[in-house]
Amino acid sequence: MQSQELIEKTASFVQDRLKNAESGHDWWHIQRVWNNTKLILQTEEADALVCELTALLHDIADSKFHNGDETIGPSIAGDFLTSIGVHPSTIQHVQQIILNMSFKASLGEVKFHSKELEIVQDADRLDAIGAIGIARAFNYGGYKNREIYNPDVPFVEKQSKEAYKNTTAPTINHFYEKLLLLKGRMNTDTARQIAAIRHQFMEQFLTQFYGEWNGER
Ligand code: ADP
Ligand code: NI
Repeated sequence: MQSQELIEKTASFVQDRLKNAESGHDWWHIQRVWNNTKLILQTEEADALVCELTALLHDIADSKFHNGDETIGPSIAGDFLTSIGVHPSTIQHVQQIILNMSFKASLGEVKFHSKELEIVQDADRLDAIGAIGIARAFNYGGYKNREIYNPDVPFVEKQSKEAYKNTTAPTINHFYEKLLLLKGRMNTDTARQIAAIRHQFMEQFLTQFYGEWNGER
């Protein structure tokens, strides 16, 4: 099977599987990360098949809904890719990236590294910043019934996986705890350039937000 056909089959599989997914990691998130991946691949040298398959499969099972088991996603991805005849070395690479690319995993010990991981991780992080990132953050906060902002709750930069999981802080805090840090965590030059624009937009949003909060016109 040609690469293009493998990618299309994978996209259909993922779209179908994520029909009822929560909106933070629904098919539209996957489609945006896939698009970001293709955008980055225009100027970065890497195995495009590995990158695109990983972009499509990286959130196939959220460990949050599987008692924190981070091997479920790679396992479902592996079974599917085997069923459509993807080469075992490609499958192994995709699985390694899924296991190691999340923000939380990146706070711990880095266990695996490749150019392809860098690209898909950047593509995923780009979807957490800018206008989309703002929308996703407030959507998440609303789902968790958090305040949008509370000037009395200071923000803390998260260091441990545990601290990251257990926050109940207002959504604006999430900007300082994660979103504004992502620009500095991009792996590729291409993503760094895209992130700079999206970062600036978030800064502008925050300035406007505080202005309105304080009753300025
Ligand atoms: P990822 O898919 O990047 O590993 P998460 O599952 O933590 O991340 O987050 C999914 C989306 O929800 C992201 O856009 C993220 O910024 C947002 N989000 C996560 N935690 C919070 C939070 N405490 N407050 C607001 N938004 C959050
Ligand atoms: Ni994702």
